[in-house]
Amino acid sequence: MLSEWLMPKAAALEVRGLTRRLRARAADEDAIDLAGNDYLGLSRDSRVIEATAEAVCRWGTGATASRLVTGTTTLHEELESALASYTGHAAGLVFSSGYLANLGVVTALGGPGTLVVTDEHVHASLIDAARLACSRVEVVPHNEVDAVAKVLAERNEPHALVATESVFSVLSDEAPLAALAGVAAEQNAVLVVDEAHGLGVTGGGRGSVHAAGLAGLDHVIVTMTLSKALASQGGVVLGPAVLREHLINRSRPFIYDTALTPASCAAALAALRVLEAEPERPAAIHSAAARLAAACGVPAAAGAVVSVPMPGPRETVRAAAICRDNGVLVGSFRPPSVPDGISRLRLTAQAGLSDDKLARACAVISQAISEVS
Ligand SMILES: Cc1ncc(COP(=O)(O)O)c(C=O)c1O
Repeated sequence: MLSEWLMPKAAALEVRGLTRRLRARAADEDAIDLAGNDYLGLSRDSRVIEATAEAVCRWGTGATASRLVTGTTTLHEELESALASYTGHAAGLVFSSGYLANLGVVTALGGPGTLVVTDEHVHASLIDAARLACSRVEVVPHNEVDAVAKVLAERNEPHALVATESVFSVLSDEAPLAALAGVAAEQNAVLVVDEAHGLGVTGGGRGSVHAAGLAGLDHVIVTMTLSKALASQGGVVLGPAVLREHLINRSRPFIYDTALTPASCAAALAALRVLEAEPERPAAIHSAAARLAAACGVPAAAGAVVSVPMPGPRETVRAAAICRDNGVLVGSFRPPSVPDGISRLRLTAQAGLSDDKLARACAVISQAISEVS
C-alpha cells in the first residue's frame, strides 16, 4: 500500500531533479567543510570538547525529563543567564532546538487575538510556528517595512507579532531591523527576530539586534539556535523576564519536551566563553566569506553564508558533487529549500579555515561552477 502511495511521489521528484539523499560522513573525513554551520570553527575546539565530556561525566548522558520535572539543571540556568547577558536581554529560556524555540515563542503568543506577520523568506520553523499558532497569518514581501506597517495598522486583533530573521539563512541578506522595530512599536506589536545566523557572526558576535541597539527593548524578542556558531544543539528565546515566565507556563514545545541535555548546555556555554574571550573570530568569518564570494563572482553578504545562484537543480547537485570529489563540501539548495525558487550552492564561511584551505576551496568551487554552467 505504501509503495503505491509513495512511489509516484518519489518518481515526480526524481524527474524534476529534486530528490534529496542522505550521505553519512565518516569521523575522519578530511574534506574542507563549507556545508556545515560551524561558523566559529568550535565544534572540535578542545575547550568545548572537554567541557562537554566533563558534563557527561557529571550529569549523565540525558536530561532525564522535561524542564518542569527534573530536566532543569544548574547548567541550563547558567547558560540562559550567560546568553541573555552576552546579547543584552533581560532573560533567556533554553529549548531543545532552535526549531522548537521558534515554535515555542510564536505559539505561546499566538491565538485568535494575535495577528502573526511573517516575512516571505523566513525559515521553515517560523512558517510552521505561524501555522501552529491558531492566529490569522499575513505573509509580507521580503524586507518590505511598509507592507508590515499596513497589515499591522489594518488589523482587528488586539495583539500582533512580526517575525523575521536578522540574517536570512539562504540568501544571507539582512532584515531592516531598526525600521521593523519602529513600526512594531508604533503599532503596538512585538518583533520576533531569529538570530540563528547572527549569533557569533554579526555585531561582533552579539548579533544584529544588539548591533542595532534593540536588545533589551520591551517589544523585541530574539530566538537563536545553539547549533551553528555555538557548535552544540538547542535553541533559546531571549527577551523580557515576563516573557520567560509566560513561556515556562504556556509554551507547549517547552513544557512537553525532554530538556536539552546537560552536555549540550555545557558545549554551548564553553563555546560562548571562547567567543567572549576571542572577539576576533567573527571578523575572520567575514573575511573568509568575502574571499569565497569573490571566487564565485557574487557580492559579499551580511553573514557567513555565500549564496551562489545556479542554472537549475541538476547543475547545483552536479557542481556540489564535483566539489566533493575534489575534497570540498558545499551545500546544494533546491526548491523547496530556497525562498525564491532559484537553486543555489550554499557555502558557509568559517573562522578557523587556514589560508591554504580557503585558497584551495575557492579554486575547486569556481572550477566546478564553470564546468556545469
Ligand atoms: C533561521 C533558522 N532558524 C531556526 C533553525 C533551526 O535551528 P535548529 O537546527 O537548532 O533546530 C535554523 C537551522 O537549522 C535556521 O537556519
